[in-house]
Amino acid sequence: MNILVIGSGGREHAFAWKIKQSRHCGQLYVAPGNAGTSTIAQNINIAAEDFKALAQFCKETNIDLIVVGPEAALVEGIRDYFEADSALNKILMVGPGKSGARLEGSKDFSKQFMVRNGIPTGKAETFVANQLNEAHRYLDGIKPPIVLKADGLAAGKGVIICTSIEEAKDVIQEMLENKKFGEASNKVLVEEFLDGIELSVFVMTDGKNYAILPEAKDYKRIGEQDTGPNTGGMGAVSPVIFADNLFLKKVEEKVIKPTIAGLAKENIPYKGFVFIGLMNIKGEPYVIEYNARMGDPETQVVLPRIDADFVELLVATAKGELTSQPIPQKEEVAVAVVMVAEGYPESYEKGKVIHGIDKAESGIVFHAGTKSNGNDVVTNGGRVLAVTGTGASLDEASKKAYKAVSGIQWDGLYFRKDIGEDLKKWANSLS
Ligand code: AMP
Ligand code: GLY
Repeated sequence: MNILVIGSGGREHAFAWKIKQSRHCGQLYVAPGNAGTSTIAQNINIAAEDFKALAQFCKETNIDLIVVGPEAALVEGIRDYFEADSALNKILMVGPGKSGARLEGSKDFSKQFMVRNGIPTGKAETFVANQLNEAHRYLDGIKPPIVLKADGLAAGKGVIICTSIEEAKDVIQEMLENKKFGEASNKVLVEEFLDGIELSVFVMTDGKNYAILPEAKDYKRIGEQDTGPNTGGMGAVSPVIFADNLFLKKVEEKVIKPTIAGLAKENIPYKGFVFIGLMNIKGEPYVIEYNARMGDPETQVVLPRIDADFVELLVATAKGELTSQPIPQKEEVAVAVVMVAEGYPESYEKGKVIHGIDKAESGIVFHAGTKSNGNDVVTNGGRVLAVTGTGASLDEASKKAYKAVSGIQWDGLYFRKDIGEDLKKWANSLS
């Protein structure tokens, strides 16, 4: 099959890496890709949101299967665009249409969806721009901490946790009246703070059946011990030790099944990934958010643990032929350490030459913000590389990841040294 992966991050490099191992993989393209994807696939210089150019490329190259990585293309309707063209609508696509992508594109929609379908989640109220007074009155009646969420896509920055009512009042005013997140904060959710431990569960669904992928824990903050501002993700671990079989069974029964059934009941066709952000509160799952795609860097630990032909899963998802069977998982641990440019998630420089990638043999180096510059690979984004180690134990996997990381250099690199450390403590406390 000729396969096109859309996107340019570590997630897309991991998709391409896993797809390449399939016996069904013919020509493999990534648009626009990065320096890493260019070593295993052909990069096509088309942006993920340029549907017209992507459509033209797919027609010319007889693409059979498209995997959409980033949310913006989904929320903007890449599937709807392809389905509306008779020359393109036979191409298999993994990724929901606009209606399904609202699970991620509108936090108000997804909250109402959870409420309608009896899916456990934090209590929330939504306010629009001319309701600032109502919002302030509502805030007067609840206790901090208070979670404020911009309704629309805000590049992972649209959630603010306020520790006092006063702060929440100021922030909601900034969001609703001063458009802190532009259009995305035309509506704001005021949500109950959920106090628990976070993890993510991923499913592939064709709208009727689903297949559960390995779960993962993401490390969102820039600083060690979860300090400092939020990032796209500084590392990930799979499996997650506190997600035991009993908890995962509850997730399946109380969250996954009603989510898929809700999509069907509400006539929302959905062929793609559902990324379910969860809080484990005393052994009970609560949904924090849905995403209509895979996570980054979670994909870089989830895919190495799948013991199945990924293209077969992608095709079954896109064709509507999934069978609800567990995906075979490798009994090993995967740890990904994200290496970023100094200054990220605020401003940072690009164009620094990266050394030592070829010597990083103990881990898999997934590229994110990189590009080729002559014979060099240079930094081209905030998150630059995600280095995954795998092993029989968390200790072994993290040693391998960090060993590989230690051989890679560029001017001004930063990474967290504590990815997985909390889970090791957790494991020790159980034994
Ligand atoms: P999101 O952009 O929805 O992924 O939210 C960003 C982060 O904010 C999540 O990963 C959580 O750590 C945190 N968060 C979101 N909603 C809540 C909540 N209701 N209670 C506690 N933390 C939350
Ligand atoms: N790592 C979080 C995300 O992909 O949304």
